[in-house]
Amino acid sequence: PAKWVSMVTARTPTNIAVIKYWGKRDETLILPINDSISVTLDPNHLCTTTTVSVSPSFDQDRMWLNGKEISLQGGRFQSCLREIRARAQDVEDEKKGIKIKKEDWQNLHLHIASYNNFPTAAGLASSAAGLACLVFSLAKLMNLKEDNSQLSAIARQGSGSACRSLYGGFVKWIMGKEDNGSDSLAVQLADEKHWDELVIIIAVVSARQKETSSTSGMRDTVETSALIQHRAKEVVPKRIIQMEDAIQKRDFPSFARLACTDSNQFHAVCLDTYPPIFYMNDTSHRQDNQLCREMESCRRNTSDNVQVAYTFDAGPNAVMIARNRKTAALLLQRLLYNFPPQSDTDLDSYIIGDKSILQ
Ligand code: PMV
Repeated sequence: PAKWVSMVTARTPTNIAVIKYWGKRDETLILPINDSISVTLDPNHLCTTTTVSVSPSFDQDRMWLNGKEISLQGGRFQSCLREIRARAQDVEDEKKGIKIKKEDWQNLHLHIASYNNFPTAAGLASSAAGLACLVFSLAKLMNLKEDNSQLSAIARQGSGSACRSLYGGFVKWIMGKEDNGSDSLAVQLADEKHWDELVIIIAVVSARQKETSSTSGMRDTVETSALIQHRAKEVVPKRIIQMEDAIQKRDFPSFARLACTDSNQFHAVCLDTYPPIFYMNDTSHRQDNQLCREMESCRRNTSDNVQVAYTFDAGPNAVMIARNRKTAALLLQRLLYNFPPQSDTDLDSYIIGDKSILQ
């Protein structure tokens, strides 16, 4: 009989948390100890494109990342594949002679090819875009009926922060209460048009892969930090409410204060871990100092004139969120003046974001 191949391609950007997720209450299901809020980048920057295919001629599940074959044996990949296969539906395409009954999916094998439009080892969140894209494209291939929130609960089991990349705009990952994780999922707070004057710029201070993975870092923090419980129980719940309000009202000064202080506290609980975890380096500290000073001097002129927010993930690279294109252009000029790229780094690998704002 003629052998067929059925394929789906999807593209997913990464997301940057403005109220951070740090700490799990269940490591296998990836259930967090607090809610988090992120903004999804536009699809031109830091995104993953994934093509998934199925054919009776494939004899095993296989995956390639940036053209190189990688193992699918890890528990997290396996959890995602198992959860998706369990929800697969009938697929029929008469023209191509494809007819798959839902029970057939258990025996059919998949080939998955994934590309990042940025260096995977750049110390930037690649797993969020990758796992979200994998789950979304497989869900389309297998005709799942679940909505994006329900899919986010599957992506979460691949990589926690991936669940927030199922939506654009501003997204909240609700930690949930259930032990089985069924209510730990992402919801969209506002779509990408709601606050589209914001401009995100990332300065790649170091392209080295981080030394402490988020998995082991979180585990050590939860086990040894005295501050983390206070953060999860007392600080984040209040900030989540305030951040949702700031986003709804497009209140940039409140948004910036919350994003910067939450990033600071995330790095503080990392420092409070034993042995301590240092994700930021000297350049990151000088950058956030500079940004703080500029924000302060703006604030002294008028109380409502904060122009830039910063946030640092589990690495030394500054993610800056400018209030609009005009301030983003100024910020970029100052950044390049005060922190010029190393002589062997070109502008494209140093600055991620829309550089046309400089024109
Ligand atoms: O989802 P992971 O395991 O890559 O952890 C992400 C943790 C942070 O990026 C530091 C914070 C966040 O909420 O994305």
